[in-house]
Amino acid sequence: MAKKSILIVHEDFSILKAFYSMLGDRYQIIIASDYVEAQAMIKKYALDMFVCAISASNRNTQNLIENLDELVLKNAKVMLLIDCFNDFDEEHLQWLYKRGVAECVPNSLPLEVLAQKIDFYFNTNSNYNELVRDLRSRTEELNKMQDAMLNSLVLITEFRDSNTAGHVKRTKLYAEALIRKMLATGYNIDKTYAENIIKSAPIHDVGKIAISDTLLHKPAKFTSNEYELAKLHVIYGHKIISNLLAEGYHDKLLEVTLELVLTHHERWDGTGYPNGLSGKQIPLSGRIMAIADVYDALIASRAYKKELSHEKATRSMLEEKGKAFDPELLDVFYSINNEFNDIQRNFRLLG
Ligand SMILES: [Fe+2]
Ligand SMILES: [Fe+2]
Repeated sequence: MAKKSILIVHEDFSILKAFYSMLGDRYQIIIASDYVEAQAMIKKYALDMFVCAISASNRNTQNLIENLDELVLKNAKVMLLIDCFNDFDEEHLQWLYKRGVAECVPNSLPLEVLAQKIDFYFNTNSNYNELVRDLRSRTEELNKMQDAMLNSLVLITEFRDSNTAGHVKRTKLYAEALIRKMLATGYNIDKTYAENIIKSAPIHDVGKIAISDTLLHKPAKFTSNEYELAKLHVIYGHKIISNLLAEGYHDKLLEVTLELVLTHHERWDGTGYPNGLSGKQIPLSGRIMAIADVYDALIASRAYKKELSHEKATRSMLEEKGKAFDPELLDVFYSINNEFNDIQRNFRLLG
């Protein structure tokens, strides 16, 4: 592996020499005795570390500090050896750290200690990079596992109810279309939150797994008692997703899935279920899902009801503006209702 390169700038040649003999076996040491030489070296070499003696009174070193940006941008670690360290107050040091200086030490620090600091810095730094890499790959693995787990839940829901297969696919696409339009028109929505809504959308009815076959496949309208039982699917869904969120473990995706599963039947006017939330008390995920869900229910045919055309479904949706639906989101729906129409036409045969 190529040696890390360190440029040391010091006006005392004996220090430069000692520095070289102490660290030259394991680092590529580049030396400069003043700021002008240092600038030439900075241009010539790709530096891993820049060690520079400075004093408050020396104008050249002040210039150098002004030009730290170039070094910091190139990811070189900057260590300053400061003359009259005590003259530098906390505020001045903070200013240096903010400019990207990694460490400020007194110029009087014994060279052995300085060498140890440099070794420690590079070792810690490489361990740190490894840790970050490791963490990244574990996070990626975890994300893949989560996606697989959510996809399995989607499949279970689809197998459980043949009417659901098309519904889960279409509702995801409607939610995605709404969110895309919201983002394009400057709606204030966090991108990760938006992505998590789209990922969670196909799971919104996962609680139907726990609803009895007789009820789920009833070829007629529900009685009021049956309707109450069917409404429980949001509670069952909430329980299923809550179980996935281990105690004390916070996961942004599952948290969004949880709120969407629980709130997709809430209504803007507060007459929905299970909690009768109203307006913006209903999380955005639930408000988006409500539009996607109801539209799809309207255009679907069931044994007990005829499907509505896209135009009739859209009209019926508009009548619910400010009643079932967030008025602002319903405007977004209306502005892209042609996209909803395309989706329902392309995926209608799925059931
Ligand atoms: Fe539902
Ligand atoms: Fe649904």
